[in-house]
This record gives sequence, C-alpha cells and structure tokens, in this order.
Amino acid sequence: MRLLVVGGAGYIGSVTVDQLLAADHEVTVLDTLVSGHRRAINPEAELVQADVRDEVQLNRLLASHSFQAVVYYGGYIQAGESVLQPGRYFANNVGGCIALLNAMIAYGIGRFVFSSSAAVYGEPTAVPITEDAPVHPVNPYGESKLMVEHALPWYERQSGLRHVSLRYFNAAGATEERGEDHRPETHLIPTVLQVALGQRPSLALYGHDYPTEDGTCVRDYVHVSDLAAAHLLALDMTEQASGLYNLGNGRGFSNRQVVETARQVTGSPIGVQQEERRPGDPAFLIASSERAQHDLGWQPQVRELEEIIASAWHWHRAHPDGYIG
Ligand SMILES: NC(=O)c1ccc[n+]([C@@H]2O[C@H](COP(=O)([O-])OP(=O)(O)OC[C@H]3O[C@@H](n4cnc5c(N)ncnc54)[C@H](O)[C@@H]3O)[C@@H](O)[C@H]2O)c1
Repeated sequence: MRLLVVGGAGYIGSVTVDQLLAADHEVTVLDTLVSGHRRAINPEAELVQADVRDEVQLNRLLASHSFQAVVYYGGYIQAGESVLQPGRYFANNVGGCIALLNAMIAYGIGRFVFSSSAAVYGEPTAVPITEDAPVHPVNPYGESKLMVEHALPWYERQSGLRHVSLRYFNAAGATEERGEDHRPETHLIPTVLQVALGQRPSLALYGHDYPTEDGTCVRDYVHVSDLAAAHLLALDMTEQASGLYNLGNGRGFSNRQVVETARQVTGSPIGVQQEERRPGDPAFLIASSERAQHDLGWQPQVRELEEIIASAWHWHRAHPDGYIG
C-alpha cells in the first residue's frame, strides 16, 4: 500500500516505518521533527518535513500522492506538561489530527490507524484494564486522545472512514537500529539507563507506599517492535472494519523491579532517590490485550522485562547521545 505515517520520525513511528517497508509498503513520513529525529527515519522512506496543521503543505502532499491509508503518531506526549499547557496539547493532539482527518476525507483516503493511550483510563477501577473500562482521563494529554477517539465514529458515519485506535500502555525497548530518544526523557526505562551510562546522578523513584508488593507503582511495558507489528495488523483490519484495542504486555512490573532488572542487565549499581508520590499516578496500570489478540491476531513476542531492558540497553550503549551524537 501507499502509506502516510504522521510522526514517523518519533520513537514508535520509526520502528513501524521499518516494518512497513519490510512488508513492501511504500512509505512517506510527515513530521515536523519537533521531537522526532531525521536519523530515525529509514532512508527508504520519503520525508516531508512539515506540521500536519499546515494546510497548504498537507493538501499539496495528499494531492501529489495516492495514499491508501494513514498511520498517526503525531502530537505531544508528556502528561505532566499537558496539565500546565492544555491549550498546546489540544491544539496539536486534537487540532492536528482533525486537520488531517478533514484533508483525508477531502482526498478520499478512507483508512486510518490512531495512536491512542492508556492515559484515557485515568485511575483504573480494576486491573487488568479492558477496553470497556470507564474512561476518565486525569490530564489533558489523555483527554486529547479520547477526543480524537470520539470524533472517529462520526467521520465513519459521514464518509465511511474506517479507523482503528490503539491504546498503548508503556512503550519500551529498542530494535537494532531504532531506540527511544525523547528530550526531555520522562519514561522510566531510558531514564534508568541514563543513570547506568553516567548521564544522570540517580533515578528519582516517585512513591514507596503504594498498595503493591514492594510499594512502588506497577506498569505494563510493551516492546516497541510488538507495538509496531500491531499497526500492520490494524492497517489490514481497516480494509473491512473499525476497532479500538488495548496494546500491552498483560503483565505488570514495579518500578523497583525495573531498577533491579536494569542493575542486572547493565552491571551498574544505579542509585535511586526516593521521592513522594506524584498526583495522578495510579498504583497499577496493566492491560488486558485479549481483544487485540482475538480480533487482530496480535501476539506480543518480547514479554520478559529482562529482554525488553536488554534491547534498550543495547541501543543506548551503541547511541549514548541518542540520534544527535
Ligand atoms: N511512548 C509511549 O509510551 C506511548 C504510550 C501511549 C501512547 N503513545 C502515543 O504514541 C505516539 C507516538 O509516541 P512516541 O513515544 O513515538 O512519541 P514521539 O514524540 O517520539 O513521536 C511523535 C512524533 O510526532 C511528531 N510530531 C508532533 N507534532 C507534530 C505535528 N503537528 N506535525 C507533524 N509531526 C508532529 C514529532 O516530531 C515526533 O517525531 C504519540 O501520539 C503518543 O501520544 C506513546
């Protein structure tokens, strides 16, 4: 297929672009490079450096390519920052995506895969979390994802757009070529590895009195190549139908387990600084991905925490300065 990947220079998008090209799709990446990296894009993909909200450039791009489907990774990703700057998040995460959907309809592109997030659930009432669980985002980032999810069925009703929203839990790990290089880095595994590399003095661990086995938060880490693989399956599904799926490992790992495993993988002592809980951090976030397994035939391949961290460590050691160095 001829595909447009918005945000394909980012962490998850860049891995997906590799898999799409390996599956013989033709890929164009539309990215501002505001947080993505030119060097993360497979050279076989075409790059158009532009903001998805730039109507002139977007129309020119859609007019000159016969895209059959769009995969959307664009937007800002920091939940904490979104509380301080809600307008920035709604403008990019909702405004950008709606601008794209409107242009897709105008150019007759009828298949769409959307990066949603576990952040739509907010504080879960039960774990593992299924897609039918109540959605109560606790920050504008999660709300922005939910707003797009809610808009999609209306486009389907009006124009027949088929769409799959994928609610990822914690993306983690790396492939041989691509890894995580967010600036600033707020995700636990790359932050832990930065301590191991001597780039941070210690790791701040937020909260030690959660009702979990060791008192620290428990999260579901899903390997980035498994996430990418789900997008290919979701694209196939949009030929026939629309859907909404959680993507997670289905297993929870505590913050302390992550640190302990990273110590074993890296051989570094990784100093920890205990901090108070952060507001809005639930004790447990664990996905049920049964629906994705059943409907899409998705099966996460890299499920052991040690393997996930080892893949990230391999990439970070080879790229201590990320894509910039
Ligand atoms: N990383 C995670 O653990 C995680 C979890 C749940 C959901 N998600 C969602 O998955 C998507 C990808 O996450 P990621 O970690 O790869 O993020 P990322 O920041 O690495 O990638 C996002 C990409 O979008 C680009 N972008 C942002 N605004 C744009 C715009 N207006 N026009 C064009 N390009 C734009 C950025 O330059 C970047 O390359 C995001 O939408 C994020 O909300 C990520």
